[in-house]
Amino acid sequence: MKRVEGKVCIVTGAASGVGREDALLLAREGAKVVLTDLNEELGRQVAAEIGEQALFVRQDIASEADWQNVIKQTLERFGRLDVLVNNAAILAVGSIEDTSLELWQKVQRINSDGYFLGCKYAVAAMKDSGGGSIVNMSSISSLGGMPAFCAYSSSKGAVTAMTRSIAVHCREQGYRIRCNSIHPDGINTPMTQALAGGAPIAQEELERNPKNRMCDPRDIANLVLFLASDESRFINGAELRVDNAQLVSGLL
Ligand SMILES: NC(=O)c1ccc[n+]([C@@H]2O[C@H](COP(=O)([O-])OP(=O)(O)OC[C@H]3O[C@@H](n4cnc5c(N)ncnc54)[C@H](O)[C@@H]3O)[C@@H](O)[C@H]2O)c1
Repeated sequence: MKRVEGKVCIVTGAASGVGREDALLLAREGAKVVLTDLNEELGRQVAAEIGEQALFVRQDIASEADWQNVIKQTLERFGRLDVLVNNAAILAVGSIEDTSLELWQKVQRINSDGYFLGCKYAVAAMKDSGGGSIVNMSSISSLGGMPAFCAYSSSKGAVTAMTRSIAVHCREQGYRIRCNSIHPDGINTPMTQALAGGAPIAQEELERNPKNRMCDPRDIANLVLFLASDESRFINGAELRVDNAQLVSGLL
């Protein structure tokens, strides 16, 4: 028996980085996966790699109409929803002093509103499936101060607080829907590679340093798989750090 056999999962931002690894691993472990992304070309490629048990739907996570369409297509194709991985997001560099209101609002619209909409529509669909698991990608930046990422950190703070609220609400309502957040430090993906000039970074090289702050996307996918599976059935409202002890070292 595979670890998420037969579960129907939506993964946003599945065209690249962490979302891609999540989708591939969930599929390998028996899930039916709905991959969404703004990047249609790469998203379709990942879905094709998975095959019959995958469906790609183009989505802007900030659009309510797009969320309604994703849920509709998921239910039409697979009949239920068990897992939502709210993963897509954008990074913005800037302190409080050099972040414009326009940039702030763009980041909140995608990283915060987009996750709110995903959770809202997933809860409605999961109630009808008898329960489920929502996994929200937050960040270590929502737990400790990172001056260079003011808007981004704040959006991840919203995701962290929203996760707690949803977990308690669903427990109170008896929905059997769990909601947890993941808080990585660095992950070796196009998002962070862009900060370092765009060139791919060899993971083996990073791992020669035991204090390395950049994990492999598969390290996150392994946790997503666990949270999606029934192995984590009593884990709800948790904030799971994947940071090689960075936060507790006080060196953020
Ligand atoms: N990379 C890191 O160091 C790091 C650290 C902590 C947390 N995270 C979080 O992990 C998650 C995955 O990040 P990643 O590093 O794989 O990033 P990535 O940039 O490699 O991938 C993000 C994907 O989201 C898609 N996307 C962006 N905006 C979208 C929108 N409005 N609608 C739909 N899709 C959209 C992009 O096309 C891309 O495919 C994000 O939530 C990110 O904030 C990343």
